[in-house]
Amino acid sequence: MADLNDESYIQIADEIVLLTDEPREKILKNIAHICDQDQNEGPIMLLDLNVLIEKYDLWKQELPNVEIFYAVKCNSDLVFLSAMKALGGAFDVASKWEMDTVISLDVSQHHILYANPSKSKSALKHAEKLKIDFTTFDSIEELVKIKKYHSHTKQLLRIHACDPTARIPLGRKYGVDEKGAIVLLKHAKEHHLRVDGICFHVGSGCRDFTTFDKAIENARRLFEIGIELGHQMEILDIGGGFWGGKHQESGFRELAHTINRSLERHFTGFNVRVIAEPGRYFAESPITLMCNIFHVREVPAYLIDKEEKDTEKTAVMYYINDGIYGTFQTNLTESERSHGRPLKKNSEATETLCTVWGPTCSTLDLVEDNVKKPLMESGEWMLYDERGAYTSCLHSGFNGMPPPQYRYTINHQNWQRIKEAFE
Ligand SMILES: Cc1ncc(COP(=O)(O)O)c(C=O)c1O
Repeated sequence: MADLNDESYIQIADEIVLLTDEPREKILKNIAHICDQDQNEGPIMLLDLNVLIEKYDLWKQELPNVEIFYAVKCNSDLVFLSAMKALGGAFDVASKWEMDTVISLDVSQHHILYANPSKSKSALKHAEKLKIDFTTFDSIEELVKIKKYHSHTKQLLRIHACDPTARIPLGRKYGVDEKGAIVLLKHAKEHHLRVDGICFHVGSGCRDFTTFDKAIENARRLFEIGIELGHQMEILDIGGGFWGGKHQESGFRELAHTINRSLERHFTGFNVRVIAEPGRYFAESPITLMCNIFHVREVPAYLIDKEEKDTEKTAVMYYINDGIYGTFQTNLTESERSHGRPLKKNSEATETLCTVWGPTCSTLDLVEDNVKKPLMESGEWMLYDERGAYTSCLHSGFNGMPPPQYRYTINHQNWQRIKEAFE
């Protein structure tokens, strides 16, 4: 790669990974340079495996007794999954496709949790064929299905645990309350079905950490009832919900502390294996999205800020090659917004009022509105940091717009650490 002193390449999951100790900003500039030369407008996603490894180490440090079952739905890129496997992570899958994807990476079936409480018959049969070790349920109908199509699996009962202030609350769709959970535990016993533990998911991007504490306390009560009924209750699955951004690390430490204290308070004396299904925590911050500005339109400022007095002022509309039908689909469902920044640093560029549109003809395709950015030109690259969670997996292809192309990097020290797994 041009201008990189110590460049070399390695291969992970059939993809070329740049092995370098150069800083990320320099790598991004080189990728842009090569794309410009090749007339490749992207969009591009740079997966920095060093950040993934940092996140893994932080988890191990803060939650040493909680096993990782990475939620594949969040980002199923094969290099990402291969690195997770190399680090020692296991996987949470939600569909046949996700099962096949992790199995194709030689992941043992003992490291796969089919964490979808309502499954199709064919998917259950597929899980049976692959001998997937655990699954989840929250209804009698599901118990009957599991008995019929995948009776050897361990079963985790999903209880209701919902932080309504979470970035994406999940409580309405899945999970039974305590009364319902007791009915299910009894029903399972009467029908000679196993229940091996309890699981919950407080919602993606949990804000109220006490939700974890309450859910762990509820799980403990159900462990006692399950054991009394004769079930081998041995797994507690605390789900996902952990924030992923670099600036949210102190929040993660605080949440980990809450969870550790809660586990100590409620599960001391139990022979319990604690697992979690983090997605966003791992996938968000390792990925930077590079979008190309393919069109710039000068407009009267009032079209953007709606201020009558600004009829004389001008503003800018940028059109970039990724939008809400691509990797910004979460703009429709979440209040959090990413803020693009120019790749090319230009201290002289004037701050300008602007709107950033996605590439499709839809007027909903709005990436940022009424924000200020340095003035940029058509053909420049705009960077969106921490765009790895629930992004490329939601790309729809609407208007025929292409998905982002992945690029990968790792430094020498980290490669030494995981390379054995690829030999
Ligand atoms: C069953 C299940 N597990 C794990 C996750 C991952 O959650 P998060 O990305 O918040 O960690 C989700 C997300 O929707 C989920 O539905």
